[in-house]
Amino acid sequence: MNATRKTVLSAVQPTNSMHIGNYLGAVRNWIPYLDEYDCIFFAVDLHSITVEQDPEALRENTYRSIASYIACGIDPAKAILFVQSQVPEHAELAWVLTCHSSMGELSRMTQYKDKSQKHGSHIPTGLFTYPVLMAADILLYGTHLVPVGEDQKQHLELTRDLAERMNHRFPKSSSGEDSALFRVPEPMIAKTGARVMSLQDPESKMSKSDPAPGACVFLSDSDKEIEKKFKRAVTDSGSEVRSEEQSAGVRNLIQIQASFLNQDYNAVLQRYVGKQYGYLKVDTANIAVEHLRPIRERTEAILKDRAYLEGILKQGRAAARARAEKTLSEVYKRLGFVRE
Ligand code: TYM
Repeated sequence: MNATRKTVLSAVQPTNSMHIGNYLGAVRNWIPYLDEYDCIFFAVDLHSITVEQDPEALRENTYRSIASYIACGIDPAKAILFVQSQVPEHAELAWVLTCHSSMGELSRMTQYKDKSQKHGSHIPTGLFTYPVLMAADILLYGTHLVPVGEDQKQHLELTRDLAERMNHRFPKSSSGEDSALFRVPEPMIAKTGARVMSLQDPESKMSKSDPAPGACVFLSDSDKEIEKKFKRAVTDSGSEVRSEEQSAGVRNLIQIQASFLNQDYNAVLQRYVGKQYGYLKVDTANIAVEHLRPIRERTEAILKDRAYLEGILKQGRAAARARAEKTLSEVYKRLGFVRE
């Protein structure tokens, strides 16, 4: 790690395989930082257990997340890759931040409001406090930039508020000078792909936990499965793409295609105006298939070499801990904890 370089940090929950929302909204956008920033990317297993997980599936999906990062182009020689629960400072700092956050501000998190509705009267407490753990993930490493999808923007705002609150509350370093405890991070949200919608209900975000078959295109899906999901994507009662006012389903397909091709929404739209929806679906499916096939094949190959993956995780854990320990130690000293 280079002290003069800025730090970029992001993470994905190892729940299921990643989907194209995670890829287009997040992981793909990490790649441009690899050469010029200190990069820290990890699998947030502590976040995954905010909802019930099958232990064996969680273990496999954790390896799969890291293998997918590498397969998507995150070169492990240029980034720290690790598993969150292997760096205990995340959970420790989360507790400190929990004590400096309020019920009111956490109740305002829209993701909590959405997710908690699915749990009836038994809402796991972790679902409520989860954004504080995310803030700890970010603040532990003096992070400058956090490339994420749009749904994480509110959590980033909370992270910034917590950092500023702690800086104000504990302004003196353990050696007595005035210095900020935490760096206040900036979110980075991509122009296209920041909010990929469900293929079955294009009014809601594509989500790993969506039980509707075909709603979500996973990076582990076969070519056939990807084609089928796009062909069955919900559009609207019309039949042709219009130049004005596309429905949510049509807009989503255009946006997905634009994002895979790195093109403008309007450039893609112009190619389909006046054509039947079927053309848009088939082309988008083919583009996704061509793009995702090599990623899937590389992921499967990496997963077969467990020793390689474990080596990367071991190195990543050591590098992450070296940084995390320093921050946590300073936090504990400023709080007044006895450290001798
Ligand atoms: P998670 O696992 O839900 O999603 C991982 C990343 O994918 C983005 N994303 C999407 N982007 C576009 N369209 C979608 N439909 C879509 N669904 C998900 C998310 O915005 C995210 O960037 N709390 C986070 C993980 C996390 C984290 C962190 C991220 C934990 N600690 C520290 C950044 C920094 C989460 O649950 O993401």
